[in-house]
Amino acid sequence: MKANTSGILTRLFDFTNERVNSCLESVLSLSVPDQRLIEAMRYATMGGGKRIRPLLVYASAKAVEAKMEDADAAACAVELVHSFSLVHDDLPVMDDDDLRRGKPSVHKAYDEPTAVLVGDALQSLAFQCLSTQKSSLSESTKLAMVQILSEATGAEGMTGGQAMDLRAEQFPIDLSVLENMHQRKTGALIKASVKLGAICNPRVATNILERLERFADLIGLAFQVQDDVLDEISETSTLGKPKGSDRAQNKTTYVSLLGIERAKRKAVELSEQALLSIQDLSPAADELRELAEFMTSRAN
Ligand code: IPE
Ligand code: IPE
Ligand code: MG
Ligand code: MG
Ligand code: MG
Repeated sequence: MKANTSGILTRLFDFTNERVNSCLESVLSLSVPDQRLIEAMRYATMGGGKRIRPLLVYASAKAVEAKMEDADAAACAVELVHSFSLVHDDLPVMDDDDLRRGKPSVHKAYDEPTAVLVGDALQSLAFQCLSTQKSSLSESTKLAMVQILSEATGAEGMTGGQAMDLRAEQFPIDLSVLENMHQRKTGALIKASVKLGAICNPRVATNILERLERFADLIGLAFQVQDDVLDEISETSTLGKPKGSDRAQNKTTYVSLLGIERAKRKAVELSEQALLSIQDLSPAADELRELAEFMTSRAN
């Protein structure tokens, strides 16, 4: 977190960490036949991450005046999917990165087969978490949550974006393809987080939902543009993951296509547009506004 993060964001970070950690602890107390697998699942999920996606779930739920308890399962589920994606993203057959969240990546701390299985298990745990939740939400809202998260995770969303990312190491792509790739590999889960929070109020108005979706599209892209910038200009010790990984893997990024200064400006413009898209929302959306700024002011 940035040193001068506002009070409202600090409170949301603390609230989110406490709730997500306790929810993760509870869903990870499974009776698993292989002790090493469950240990590695805990290693991949507990500690180190910024918890941006759960933060968005709670901030969005608050913006529509939903009950925070009803957002717990979704907050936990998006972090499980995200953690799974990081474990697979770091594998030698993908980005080949040995450091994640300031610790050896799962395939280094354990081994490659375990890392593959950890990803598989975390992904299904996310859907188990949504489908068995004890919240006050209706069965149809719970089903809608499963639909939102599965679409965002699968071949049309994050997984498809990751496939495009790997392909782009071999073939040059232009800015519009890059934008599409970023929207899928990162934007899809960020958008799902905002939508999941919003439907915690089943009576949320369609026009509010549309504004939140537009907001989510813009911050999702801003987040990955900033990730590309930080890969180039930050330090490994700050990032908790290897600096310069994109360059080493010959990735096409906003930095490789636009250069550092234009990429930074692009991220800021996107976050400003995101703020405009929710300008008519009440002060209950202030956490979302702060998060939009955090997307581009963050140092890791
Ligand atoms: C990193 O996401 C992967 C991307 C989608 C860019 P985060 O920067 O949210 O990673 P953690 O959870 O804080 O480690
Ligand atoms: C990762 O993008 C996106 C997903 C994991 C889905 P990156 O490869 O840029 O993420 P980092 O930089 O390794 O965190
Ligand atoms: Mg990657
Ligand atoms: Mg990576
Ligand atoms: Mg990156």
